[in-house]
Order: sequence, then C-alpha cells, then structure tokens
Amino acid sequence: MIKKVATITLNPAYDLVGSCQDIELGRVNRIQTVSLHAAGKGINVAKVLKDLGVDVSVSGFLGKDNQDGFQLMFNDLDIDNHFHSVPGNTRINVKLTEKNSIVTDFNFSGFEVTTQDWERFVHDSLIWLSQFDMIAISGSLPAGIDPNNFTDWMICLRAQCPRIIFDSSHETLIAGLKIAPWLIKPNRHELEIYTGRPLPLLEDVVTAAQALHKEGIAHVIISLGDEGAVWINRSSIWIAKPPICKSVISTVGAGDSMVGGLMYGLLMCQSNEDTFRLATAVAALAVSQINVGVKDRLQLSALMERVDLKHFDQK
Ligand SMILES: Nc1ncnc2c1ncn2[C@@H]1O[C@H](COP(=O)(O)OP(=O)(O)OP(=O)(O)O)[C@@H](O)[C@H]1O
Ligand SMILES: [Mg+2]
Repeated sequence: MIKKVATITLNPAYDLVGSCQDIELGRVNRIQTVSLHAAGKGINVAKVLKDLGVDVSVSGFLGKDNQDGFQLMFNDLDIDNHFHSVPGNTRINVKLTEKNSIVTDFNFSGFEVTTQDWERFVHDSLIWLSQFDMIAISGSLPAGIDPNNFTDWMICLRAQCPRIIFDSSHETLIAGLKIAPWLIKPNRHELEIYTGRPLPLLEDVVTAAQALHKEGIAHVIISLGDEGAVWINRSSIWIAKPPICKSVISTVGAGDSMVGGLMYGLLMCQSNEDTFRLATAVAALAVSQINVGVKDRLQLSALMERVDLKHFDQK
C-alpha cells in the first residue's frame, strides 16, 4: 500500500543566499548572489522525500502577492500543493556567508495570518490530513498565529495521525512539545534554549534528550552540526558521525534533510541503524550543495558507507 506523507510549513520564505568578504555595519556591502529560491523547512523535507521516491503533499500559508515561485516549484517537482494563500507577501530571508564561513541570517517579516485564515486552515487541514501515515510540521509561526491555538491544532492532528514529526525552535518548539510529538529533531542550540541551560558535553545532550523521551516523545534526535547527531528511542541510544565534508557549500537545510532521511527510513520500516545512517548521509549531502535534495544516489550510497554509527555508552 502507498504510504501518505505530508509536510506543513506555516511560515515559508524566499531564501536569498549570498557571500561576501566581511559584513561592514553602516556601509554599502557588495554581495555575490548564490541563489534566490522558494524555501521553507517543511518544503525542504518534502524535496528530500520526493527525491527518495516518496509522494508527498505540502501545506501551510503563502502570501498572495509573491507566490508564483512556490507554485512553479511545486509544479516542477510534482508535489501535491495544499498551501493556503493569504493577503500580503511571503517573507524573504537573507543568508550571508562571510569569508570565514560564518553565516548571518536576516529574517524579514511577511504576511500576517488573521483569525479567519487560521480557522479556515485548521478546518481544511483536519479534513484532508485525516488519512496520512506521517505528517511533518516544521519551522516557526507567522505573525498572527497564537502558540496556544497551534498546540490545540496539533492535538487534533495527532488524534488523526499519531506519527507527527516536529522540528522547530523557541516559542513554537515549546508550544509543539506540549503534545509530545512522535519524533522531534532540535539542534543542540534549540535544545539549550528549550532546557534553559548550556549543554556542552555529549552526556549533557543525551540526558536532556532522555528527559524528553520520558515525557512520551518516542524518537528524540538531537543534531550537533558537523559532530553528527544522537538518537534516543525505547530500544537504544545511537550516535552518528558524518563523513568529513571538505568543501562545505551551505549548511542551510542540513537539519531538514536529516528529518527527510529519518522519515524515509521509518516509513519504509528500515532498521533504526539503517535509517540513521541514511539520514546522516542525506544531511552530509545537503552541506556539499547549495540547495537540499538527493540527485545522485551513488554519491548518497558512498556517503552512507562513511557514516560512523555507534551505540552510545552511558557512564
Ligand atoms: N559540516 C558538516 N559536514 C557533514 N555533515 C554535517 C555538517 N553540518 C551538519 N551536518 C549534518 O547535518 C545534520 C543537521 O545539522 P545541524 O545540526 O546543523 O541542523 P540544523 O541546525 O537543524 O539545520 P537547519 O535547521 O538549518 O536545517 C547534522 O546532524 C549532521 O549530520
Ligand atoms: Mg533545524
């Protein structure tokens, strides 16, 4: 039977990616444009799943005034589009990489979601998402959506689809964790903000992740940038280290790519080890290219072989 998968991006963006020498505040800065493309965390996940051969539906909100880039992309990729159009523009996020590889983000504001827009979205989504095997909810909330209303919607969604994958930060992360989603993948920094304390050692990260697992989250994956990721579930604790990537092009979307890989493995009932190896390789692929996606299966297989996967032994 074909499995049905959806990803939800409530606050997508056009990503304007560029590089420069050093950003000089208060000066004219000349930027080399790398790309301008329709993006958003759930959309990145959908692209990865589509490349891996999974049919995927997408939803969320788009600004009416500049939605063409998104519509073209969904048509090109043959992605089933359920986005709601709202008055205004989808925001633009500017990502600048300086010569020292430090990335600075400028996230502009975009459309605002009215109470009526939100109620329509909740009503529609609970109807069309009623038959899905896995639903990923990724990213922040746009202006106008009350985090408490977001939590209420997630409760209703979980009643229809127990396998909710959730990847967010700050107040949206707090709102979403209240429902104990099936799988989460914060990065170390997001987990530190959530727990309110620094987590410098791997042991600290594992302890904080175990606490979330005990609260009912079946799969807790914490990503650690180029150090890899840890995965805690009822069977074990694993640590996966990616192969060293000599030419890092852009780390944007590495976490989303990992989420896509995790969803693929779990959807196909692969073992936890195979799933984690695949997800780590898909994420490593993302950092070696401008955009996310898996165009070269041979490159993916080669990266999978180079992932260092181990059980984590707690002292
Ligand atoms: N330099 C790198 N080389 C190889 N793999 C990397 C590198 N940086 C990140 N990764 C892989 O990508 C995964 C996710 O990275 P990271 O922890 O930066 O996610 P994130 O901050 O959630 O990313 P985003 O939200 O921008 O998609 C890591 O667990 C790791 O496996
Ligand atoms: Mg992330």
